[in-house]
Amino acid sequence: MRVDSVFVPSFGNRPGRLVGRGEILSNCIAGLKSKPGSKERAVLFLGQRGSGKTVLLLEIADLARKEGYIVASPTVASKGMLSRIVEKIQDEGETFLKNSSKKLTGGSLGAFGFSVGLQFSVTDIDTKSSSYKLTKLCEALNSKGKGILILIDEVQANNADLKELIIAYQELVGKGCDIALIMAGLPAAVSATLNDKVLTFLNRAKKEPLLPLKNGDVDAFYKQSFQKLKMKVPDMIRNQMAESAKGSPYMMQLLGHYTVVYAEGKTDVSKEIFQTAKERAEEEYIQDICQTTLNTLSEVDITFLKAMVEDNEFSKVADIAKRMGVRADYVQIYKRRLLDAGVIEQCGRGVLRYAVPYLRESLLDDHHQEEKELLNAYHTLDQTQKARLMAYMKRLMKK
Ligand SMILES: Nc1ncnc2c1ncn2[C@@H]1O[C@H](COP(=O)(O)OP(=O)(O)OP(=O)(O)O)[C@@H](O)[C@H]1O
Ligand SMILES: [Mg+2]
Repeated sequence: MRVDSVFVPSFGNRPGRLVGRGEILSNCIAGLKSKPGSKERAVLFLGQRGSGKTVLLLEIADLARKEGYIVASPTVASKGMLSRIVEKIQDEGETFLKNSSKKLTGGSLGAFGFSVGLQFSVTDIDTKSSSYKLTKLCEALNSKGKGILILIDEVQANNADLKELIIAYQELVGKGCDIALIMAGLPAAVSATLNDKVLTFLNRAKKEPLLPLKNGDVDAFYKQSFQKLKMKVPDMIRNQMAESAKGSPYMMQLLGHYTVVYAEGKTDVSKEIFQTAKERAEEEYIQDICQTTLNTLSEVDITFLKAMVEDNEFSKVADIAKRMGVRADYVQIYKRRLLDAGVIEQCGRGVLRYAVPYLRESLLDDHHQEEKELLNAYHTLDQTQKARLMAYMKRLMKK
């Protein structure tokens, strides 16, 4: 049995190669090299679930280390995160000091209030705030020519600890410290319906939307990956596979993975193998991404989305209002919320479409549960039974 050593369809699991994010990565590294305090040093990645926020932060961590930064690896925005960030900087800073030829002595660090290395004195450990410790660490490491990069994952604007970090960051920037902050979150995390100090900062940060991957990039990734696995995938099937990913990195990994699984050790990938893999990948994607997205929305939000189902791709706001049986101005509030959450997108005046791949199929699933069960039953038939059934249906249609 062939082991899938290439595709990694699970959250936060780093792929062997990061597809289509070269420009974002080089912009980020260029930003780190810009003047302390410049806007490029406070960056916010916004992307739907499975768009690759976590793995991008991990990649940036590696690149920034190579550029000589002390990096606090991605910390999920949550209670107590500032003290975890302080510990991470201490650990990396200590390693740097140990390996540094210009090793700091306890004496010279004394000026910054450390007892030894980057350890705080016994009194400071208990009495000083995490913001104070972050400031001291930043000053000490900056004085040795080391900049600091803090990475935050799963940003939420209404998080008290994030507020504390942002205040500390702004103070450090005010002092001219060499520090940068790169964050990632769902588009809804900075939705305009929230409003406070954190939101103001997030809104001013440089926003980098994680756009869908290009078909060509996905196709090239498949070509390289299947070659590596010594599997033959006809061009047409590979192109279909790339298209079915619909720009989602997670779906791209799922499709690749299940193609390897359902090939069951065979070298050649047939249309049937791909079809089975696609069905399984789609099911999993709908469950993990679409259903999770829908679970965070209100009932009216979902009614709005369902009102778009019958359009092929583009929906007019006026039609949505009509189908919902409400006035056009009433639907505007929901339209705004769904746009902010990145669930739908505007394509021209008064025209919308789904922004999450397979969301339409997922809503259709709800509508067509019975048909889905019939389809599942159909898949249990063997090839002969399927052929007989199809022939019978054709005869019926002719009558
Ligand atoms: N650029 C990419 N190239 C190849 N694979 C990727 C890329 N980005 C993400 N992936 C893969 O997609 C999956 C999801 O990535 P990740 O966990 O980073 O998404 P996320 O945006 O953080 O999702 P969530 O919002 O649910 O936390 C993983 O299996 C990861 O390996
Ligand atoms: Mg993530």
